[in-house]
Amino acid sequence: MPSVGLGTWQMTGEDANTVIRDAVDAGYRHIDTATLYQNEIQIGDALADLFAEGKIKREDIFITTKAFCHEIAPNVVESSLRNSLKRLRLDHVDLYLAHIPAATNDDGTYRTDVKVEDIWKGFENLYNHGLTRSIGVSNFSNSQLERIIKIQTVPVHVSQLELHLYLPQKAHRALCKKHNIVVTAYSTLGSPGRMNVISSTGKPLFEYTKDEPNEMEDEAVIKLAKKYNKTPAQILLRGTVEMGISVIPKSTNKLRLRENIDIFDFIMGRDDVNLLDARSKEKQARLFWWPSINEHPEDPLTFVQHFLFCFPRSSVFKVRLLAVTFCSAIMFYLLRLPFYNLSLN
Ligand SMILES: NC(=O)c1ccc[n+]([C@@H]2O[C@H](COP(=O)([O-])OP(=O)(O)OC[C@H]3O[C@@H](n4cnc5c(N)ncnc54)[C@H](OP(=O)(O)O)[C@@H]3O)[C@@H](O)[C@H]2O)c1
Repeated sequence: MPSVGLGTWQMTGEDANTVIRDAVDAGYRHIDTATLYQNEIQIGDALADLFAEGKIKREDIFITTKAFCHEIAPNVVESSLRNSLKRLRLDHVDLYLAHIPAATNDDGTYRTDVKVEDIWKGFENLYNHGLTRSIGVSNFSNSQLERIIKIQTVPVHVSQLELHLYLPQKAHRALCKKHNIVVTAYSTLGSPGRMNVISSTGKPLFEYTKDEPNEMEDEAVIKLAKKYNKTPAQILLRGTVEMGISVIPKSTNKLRLRENIDIFDFIMGRDDVNLLDARSKEKQARLFWWPSINEHPEDPLTFVQHFLFCFPRSSVFKVRLLAVTFCSAIMFYLLRLPFYNLSLN
């Protein structure tokens, strides 16, 4: 899997077709898409043209797509992948990911009967039938990944997750290293163009946290950019690749596309990479969370993560916080009672 791929979220319509051609010209041989991005048809058309023109061969390019929540249950996942393949005009993908660990029905209602172990069994079946060359997970927590590792007959090949300067995911990286799983980082540039994604039912699927500092303006990044005569984006991408993590920056701009893959003519070295890795101690920022699944038993975020990153917009969080505060007040009152009586005596 090439260490730099092209992210394609928020790349739709004719834009996608042109961008894929520009990306291939710039040297990209890895494309990351998903059913959710609604651009598989345009990517498939662009690839078919490029194959027909002889610019690239199928085996030269690594294609990842993802099954969204309504597509991951074992009874629907094969038809989900076959639909993606039809749109991409391919007979297999190189990597198929479970986009988010929480299974739903088409209308977004929860499938609480489907656990991550069940999702994985469905993915193993697709791998065994040759519909995908590798399988993996996206946005799974460490404990969910460990649960899969316990039952897997086909190993998890890739874990894709939000990972950037202010969210370095060190525990997840260590777990993946131990089990030989490739880590792919998304939003390495801090996703400056991110938007909320609203489903057809009007419910937000993805929501982003606002007002986070721009990672391309981080003082350490700017210092390193000056030192290596590179741009801040190139420093963030190169540093991540030197940590052994693959990256999938998104750009629809021809110049920035080239800039983002032009990171192989310099080496930052351990000290400067460690400097970047240490930035998270000063700042912590999660950019995305999923309000549509925050009551799902397989929501990958813990209570503490909801508290740290999603407050105050998570209504479930607010209810839980109120409940905890109320219970604590009662406990405090009950525990305090004997002392109160003592002082009265
Ligand atoms: N698995 C998941 O749940 C998940 C979630 C989010 C994203 N992803 C994947 O990861 C990819 C990347 O993440 P992302 O799109 O959130 O964020 P990103 O790659 O960190 O940032 C993309 C944004 O940065 C701008 N940009 C790109 N190159 C730049 C440069 N050199 N200098 C300045 N600005 C630059 C882009 O604008 P222009 O287009 O105008 O250049 C775009 O607005 C996605 O496209 C998607 O494929 C996966």
